[in-house]
Amino acid sequence: MHSTVWSYEDFCRILDDFPSLKREVNGKRLVYLDNAASTLKSKSVIEKMTDFYLNHYSNIHRAVHTLASEATVAYEEAREKVAKFLNARPEEVVFTSGTTMGINFLVNSFIRSGILNQEDTVLLSQVEHHANLVPWVRLSKFHGFRVEYIKADEKGVITNEAILETKNLNPKVISITGQSNVTGQEMPLQLLRETFKSSIFIVDGAQLVPHKKIDVKKLDVDFLVFSGHKMLAPTGIGVLYGKKELLEKIEPFLYGGEMIDKVTFEDVSFNVLPYKFEAGTQHIAGAVGLGYTIDYLEKIGFEKIEKHIEELSGYLLEKMANLDFVEIYGPFDSSHKSLVSFNVKGVHPHDVSHILDENFAVATRSGHHCAQPLMSVLARGSKIDFPNSTVRASVYFYNTKEDIDILIEGLKYIKRWFE
Ligand SMILES: Cc1ncc(COP(=O)(O)O)c(C=O)c1O
Repeated sequence: MHSTVWSYEDFCRILDDFPSLKREVNGKRLVYLDNAASTLKSKSVIEKMTDFYLNHYSNIHRAVHTLASEATVAYEEAREKVAKFLNARPEEVVFTSGTTMGINFLVNSFIRSGILNQEDTVLLSQVEHHANLVPWVRLSKFHGFRVEYIKADEKGVITNEAILETKNLNPKVISITGQSNVTGQEMPLQLLRETFKSSIFIVDGAQLVPHKKIDVKKLDVDFLVFSGHKMLAPTGIGVLYGKKELLEKIEPFLYGGEMIDKVTFEDVSFNVLPYKFEAGTQHIAGAVGLGYTIDYLEKIGFEKIEKHIEELSGYLLEKMANLDFVEIYGPFDSSHKSLVSFNVKGVHPHDVSHILDENFAVATRSGHHCAQPLMSVLARGSKIDFPNSTVRASVYFYNTKEDIDILIEGLKYIKRWFE
């Protein structure tokens, strides 16, 4: 295994923590390259969660008994860990069920709070995941605000020029992915912040946060949303970070228990931050698990994780670019991170993905990747009969260059087979 980051011993320790990486699929060692959809889960995080469930679990906040207090402490400690991880304050961290919930939360809260009105513009990019597009587009139909887009070029790249071209739209809100789940492009967030100084700046961190340490203060983002399951944590838990002064201003999306201060038959007042946004019983063990995951990632070393993924990303892109029977999407520079979307000329992506699984135990994803509008952009720039979908191979810190070599071998096999 070749890595300038992990020693052989480091890597063996990592492997021990992900039993799936040692299992066989169709008689071969599994090569898991579907991390952008969801990462594998760590045995040590699961063991800690099991201990929490078996020995310390209860509902949180309300009761005064010992288990409730242990569970509450664990839940609030998880919030503190997330806050520290992002350089935020604990009251600025709201637990959600994931990125999709986070965006729906914000659109609805902005409307209810009178922040988004008929005369306002929301700026997105053409590479957004449906999670950061459908809620804006649908609710614009009912509430009359405009949705505009930063255009992607024919490779699906958002250029600095395209960003600057939209400057005069003067959007009330700009909501953009930190890293595209299709093109792998890491967005120039600093340029976006500087260009839209007076807009509310939302970053969809679903792909970015698992790979890159984000300092919300340094980046000056107003809201950041992400999902735990793309960074080892359980499904059903996510985070919405918001600047305190903005969270204080906006109306909750969900109403119910826990989020209230006083309730009468006629009216309601809200709890303090962040509880005002956490109605009902939360995914308690999920939040606690996300906290354990952050401990785990910090213990391995987030800088090392970033560096290893960067090395793998460069290797993956270079190897793929050498295949003349493959069309690749996204930028051809160092902004292309952690995944590659591509098509094998003349072969449907589902067939490619299926053959890779069956013959090489390589797990990839094929389809439109919840980005149908972007597929139509890629179709215009494509030199092949574009199937409105792509294959996507995505890495995480437990992958190796050998995994990528097996992918490449599989793709060469597919080419020969279809000839
Ligand atoms: C960029 C991006 N945004 C949003 C999402 C939605 O995340 P979730 O399904 O966890 O809500 C994804 C999931 O793939 C994504 O890649």
